[in-house]
Amino acid sequence: MENPQQILQTFRSELAEARSPASLRDLRVKYLGKKSELKNALKNLREVPAEQRAQVAKELNDAQAAIESELTEREASAQADELNRKLEAEWVDIGLPGVVTERGAKHPVRAVEERCLDVLRQLGFEVASGPEVESPFYNFDALNIPPHHPARDMQDTFWVQGGQVLRSHTSTIQARTLEKRLPLPLKFASPGRVYRNEAVDATHLAMFHQLEGFWVEKGLTFAHLKGVLSFVAGSLYENRKFRFKPKFYPYTEPSVGLDIACLNCGGDGCEACHQAGWVTIIGAGMIHPKIMKNFGYTEPGVRGIAFGWGTTRMTSQWLGLSRAKSLYEQDMRFMRTLRRRPG
Ligand code: DAH
Repeated sequence: MENPQQILQTFRSELAEARSPASLRDLRVKYLGKKSELKNALKNLREVPAEQRAQVAKELNDAQAAIESELTEREASAQADELNRKLEAEWVDIGLPGVVTERGAKHPVRAVEERCLDVLRQLGFEVASGPEVESPFYNFDALNIPPHHPARDMQDTFWVQGGQVLRSHTSTIQARTLEKRLPLPLKFASPGRVYRNEAVDATHLAMFHQLEGFWVEKGLTFAHLKGVLSFVAGSLYENRKFRFKPKFYPYTEPSVGLDIACLNCGGDGCEACHQAGWVTIIGAGMIHPKIMKNFGYTEPGVRGIAFGWGTTRMTSQWLGLSRAKSLYEQDMRFMRTLRRRPG
């Protein structure tokens, strides 16, 4: 057997070389394990001559205690090193601003559409919808728009292959619903996109939004129409001035338009109203007797009122925009400037 001093020395030189936690574990087994030299020597103490036994035992125990404490110390510092290395490698700067998803908002046209529908729902209207690629029958003929009418011109309406049109107004829903001959009263509202083959300017676009509404019931009069339009305009635009004016539509008799005072109007050079001070946002009227008859609504006293809201213009007027076109350009720099969110 080597003497305890030598064992301790060899241990120390090996400890100095040990770099990894695994090599420290190996050293612990080698010097303090059951089969270590020191343990063996302690087991075999009785073979040591009696007079030396106490001395040898003390040396063995001292060596063992020294190894235990030096090894423990190194293990602890190796553990701390390991932790520091991890902290260094896996460090996260919690002070950095996080990645924030921007909060979205409804498109202003959609928001205005929803407000209109909310008000109409209070009056008992329900929502209907129809296709954007439409047969000319529902877009024109069924609405008493004669064959020579300019709206049928290629310059005014987009015709698609197969003789269909992109609907030029949401009044198509009126024709489609009347045709179904549902039990009275009929009270429907229908928002959606419409298309016109127009020269685009501040208030005219090739695609925009409208909302059609109509009501068929016994005993309806022009006063009901005025009442509905005033109620909706008043709910949406509060104290803005509005006015009715005579209009002509082939599918209503009599026909009216509703104008509101232009919000954007600085007078001279106002693009939103072409300097008129007023913007027409609704066309309306009593459903033409010919249409009522064609669809079979012939019972005495049954009348219809109908109205088409220009939801795009309404939105421009809501926000005070001079160019309705900017609503459809999807430019977030512009959209973010719309501080006054309807809704
Ligand atoms: N369709 C008309 C337009 O596009 C709006 C309109 C006018 C709708 C009178 C109606 C109505 O229902 O009765 O300008």
